[in-house]
Amino acid sequence: MVQLTLPKNSKIRTGKTWPRPEGKNVRKFLIYRWDPDTGENPRVDTYFVDVDKCGPMILDALIKIKNEIDPTLTFRRSCREGICGSCAMNIDGTNTLACIKGLDEVKGDVKIYPLPHMPVVKDLIPDLTHFYAQHASIMPWLETKTNRPAKEWRQSIEDRKKLDGLYECVMCASCSTSCPSYWWNGDRYLGPASLLHAYRWIIDSRDEATAERLDALEDPFKLYRCHTIMNCAKTCPKGLNPAKAIAEIKKMMVSRRV
Ligand code: SF4
Ligand code: FES
Repeated sequence: MVQLTLPKNSKIRTGKTWPRPEGKNVRKFLIYRWDPDTGENPRVDTYFVDVDKCGPMILDALIKIKNEIDPTLTFRRSCREGICGSCAMNIDGTNTLACIKGLDEVKGDVKIYPLPHMPVVKDLIPDLTHFYAQHASIMPWLETKTNRPAKEWRQSIEDRKKLDGLYECVMCASCSTSCPSYWWNGDRYLGPASLLHAYRWIIDSRDEATAERLDALEDPFKLYRCHTIMNCAKTCPKGLNPAKAIAEIKKMMVSRRV
């Protein structure tokens, strides 16, 4: 029988339980903690927050914990408006943005982990280096060959509308890190977020590198590892549908051959 050995630091242990305050609406938070500098295994710490003295979002509770209970808790956040994409994490079993996830949307204990299947830098912070490199690889900018116009690259209202449902992506990585294909082949499969961006530039009426963009995606892994599992569309906190964008690219691949 094959004997599998778990990698060092892979077992999560029970961590510290912080004191419970008085109050009618005290919620329990179970939060993943890992500091690689300590050499210790990850743990789950338990915190209690009086939500009557806290803002309405999960991020408000995390900030309250950091400010008033445990300053060592580490997470990313910036805009607190669902725009910067930096506060993505796994909350109550779903990847989402902590700043637009209401405390009232989670029933019972609030369980918070970093985005799954990514290397962890510390606590709730995933290492997104590879994710951003994949995004850069799809050339997320307007590629043009004709001479630059005197004022601006014009676009009709109809052509601009084709970008709706795509340009709103905040690169939070919730979709890619919820995708089993990306979990197993994230080194070569570009994943839903980068492919949504690829499509956004492919169908931009002003872009003049469509053939090159499609050529670059014509690869068994980069594009075709999408098996339409649809976790991406289910989890996207901005209500976008990366799977549809991927399907549109696949359709373009077929139609340019006939
Ligand atoms: S498509 Fe949605 S889930 Fe994916 S990176 Fe963009 S905003 Fe985040
Ligand atoms: S803090 Fe910017 S998206 Fe949540």
